[in-house]
Amino acid sequence: MSPVGSNSYKKERLTAYLGHIVNPLSDSLYEEWLDGALIVDGNGRIVDVGAWAALKKTYAAVDEIYDYERRLIFPGFVDLHIHLPQVTQVGKSGDTLLGWLEKYIFPAESRFSEPQHARQIANWFFDELPRNGTTLAVVFTTIHEEAADIAFEVAAHKGNRVVMGKVMMDRHSPPSLSEELSQSLKSSAKLAERWHGYDDNRIQYAFTPRFAITSSDDMLRETGKLWRNYPGTFVHTHLAESKEEVRSVAELFPRSRSYLDVYDQAGLVGERSVFAHAIHIDDTDLAVLSRSKSALAYCPSSNFFLKSGIFPIARVKDKGVQFGLGSDVAAGPSMCLFGVMKDANFIQPEIWISPAELLYYATIGGARALKLDHKVGSLERGKEADFVIVNPNNRSAVPGNILNHPTDEILSVLVFMGDDRMIEGTYVRGKAIYEREDSPAKKTLQKKPALQ
Ligand code: GUN
Ligand code: ZN
Repeated sequence: MSPVGSNSYKKERLTAYLGHIVNPLSDSLYEEWLDGALIVDGNGRIVDVGAWAALKKTYAAVDEIYDYERRLIFPGFVDLHIHLPQVTQVGKSGDTLLGWLEKYIFPAESRFSEPQHARQIANWFFDELPRNGTTLAVVFTTIHEEAADIAFEVAAHKGNRVVMGKVMMDRHSPPSLSEELSQSLKSSAKLAERWHGYDDNRIQYAFTPRFAITSSDDMLRETGKLWRNYPGTFVHTHLAESKEEVRSVAELFPRSRSYLDVYDQAGLVGERSVFAHAIHIDDTDLAVLSRSKSALAYCPSSNFFLKSGIFPIARVKDKGVQFGLGSDVAAGPSMCLFGVMKDANFIQPEIWISPAELLYYATIGGARALKLDHKVGSLERGKEADFVIVNPNNRSAVPGNILNHPTDEILSVLVFMGDDRMIEGTYVRGKAIYEREDSPAKKTLQKKPALQ
């Protein structure tokens, strides 16, 4: 426990992070400071951001300075859709969605009935996220209450920021991944009560019916009710990913106009609903998504991998539907949103998405879709200091003087060649949860001893 008064002391303790700050503002605009400074207080809040030459007069007495030189400082990545239990199955291809689930994913998820396995994978997963630059992830676990509880515990301990939930499945599932509806609802409510809002909302709960095929009508409807009983929580599920899946949903729910309508009739559509994929949807669905302020997770690497189709980005933007990017590991082979940004552009045959726009979707765009942009997603005074230190020189084939190129070109190299090697440090609420061994953060310029 902190001693009385330590909070105000912590608040006064300031750290300056120096580097080339790039801060996305909209899908076509970013601000930047080449010799910039991010000033963070001891509670992990951003006190100021700007040119160091101007700020250093005000903040001459900061307690610590980390000088990242010309390295880039961005807001941390927001991954709108990822599966914790699937990390052991990356790169295992050879089928489209439903066959791939049966062959690789359901057996891997069944193993989460073993708490020891659940803990081992959760530990690995929550180290990997910041290693890949992700500071906020929206996470699927499995149906197992204990495994989900362990995942929350590990994220809480390691300092990750997550929106996460226990998966719910009560039909058309293998016996090892089937649960009774009443138990599923009870476990979900228990976990939401225990974890939603933990550590000043660093951890939030998402009710997580897997998709319409593996949820009965009753499960969807009861989950809608449960969601309304826990204000501020999320719904996280899959929507219209593959054609085969859409056909199956049409057969299972003949009274619904569309796949989205299944969720809508169950009361699962609204602010803080996160729908992964949304490829095979029509304009009526888009109007419902827009009006309801739902969030879509565009998961291009996964869509390439399972040959699911192409996210209709032009129509989505045209209708004003909010969206961000999802790695969808393990259907997406990598957690790193640099690769996802590249695929987001590559998979669209007729549309060029600029690197700056892609960086927007990977950061503040995703946070906006989640309605968490008042707290995170960009580097602004008063927000929580979630940021990454990025050095493109850590990868072969990148020109040695890349950091002296125009910023648009640096961003382009990052998007088209970026991977986890370029992440040198990842901070959530001002705390380094990942630092490369050779990070310059190890050498601080100025350091005053912390008071006891
Ligand atoms: N639809 C239902 N479950 C899954 C899953 O685990 N991964 C993907 N990509 N789609 C799904
Ligand atoms: Zn998924």
